Amino acid sequence: MRRVQLIELHEQSWFPKFLRDEITDTLQSAMNFFGAYAPVAPLLQTALDATCSPLIVDMCSGGGGPWLKLSPRLHANDHASLQILLTDKYPNLNAFQSASANSQNHIAFHAAPVDAINVPRELRGFRTMFTSFHHFQPEEARAILQNAVDASQGIGIFEVTRRAPSAIAWMFLWALLPLLFTPWIRPFRWSRLLCTYVLPIIPLVLLFDGVVSCLRTYRPQELREIIAKLSATEYLWELGERANPAGDVPVAYLIGYPRPKGLTS
Ligand SMILES: C[S@@+](CC[C@H](N)C(=O)[O-])C[C@H]1O[C@@H](n2cnc3c(N)ncnc32)[C@H](O)[C@@H]1O
Repeated sequence: MRRVQLIELHEQSWFPKFLRDEITDTLQSAMNFFGAYAPVAPLLQTALDATCSPLIVDMCSGGGGPWLKLSPRLHANDHASLQILLTDKYPNLNAFQSASANSQNHIAFHAAPVDAINVPRELRGFRTMFTSFHHFQPEEARAILQNAVDASQGIGIFEVTRRAPSAIAWMFLWALLPLLFTPWIRPFRWSRLLCTYVLPIIPLVLLFDGVVSCLRTYRPQELREIIAKLSATEYLWELGERANPAGDVPVAYLIGYPRPKGLTS
């Protein structure tokens, strides 16, 4: 199956902001409910230990990403608590505030837009990106990695989507999930109920964007080709898939960070 660069609706600048926020809130709730990214905690911890990073700069954070469930599984140096900074090109500030308020001060956010391709230099920390790398065309994907390398920051990319017929079939089930849990998504909004049960725009956009996401997800060999084009001789890169014991959907990952001093290849 070839990679196809179709558009996702919610990422378009013309897509109504209130609907984009509804979509990212729903995505975030579903991912946290299923603990979809829990299997990558040990990988992320190893990379944090190697880079001595007390701060994570999460890019493309959407509705807050997996952090409410994931951050208690991680720690900074000397087992101090890890700080997470949520960022996005189109920040969902209500969701960021809610994640921050529920995090016992582990999670903060950057209110101004942050483009993953050009992260401001002052935002220093280990960069992460969940369910988002597939949005970017190969040249942009390379630029995201190169931007982290140029700033000498570690970066971890994690994806639950896959370019495979079985993953595309899962998307039909996935799009029905909001019908089950939407009334419990916080902050509560009547507009969310309306756009789920009366005019099912949210499930339909999730279905469309979910299928497109699968068709755009990079395969390991394509990630290797992107890494090969980086000017980053002193970086360590790891990529692979991590099985999820709680379900059928493995998490694909790509992690890179400056080679620790004294470690030779
Ligand atoms: C699928 S959603 C986010 C998922 C979120 N990480 C999670 O785990 O729930 C993708 C996000 O990427 C953001 N985005 C799109 N282009 C971007 C860019 N160039 N830089 C930063 N964020 C971007 C969108 O605003 C959207 O919130």
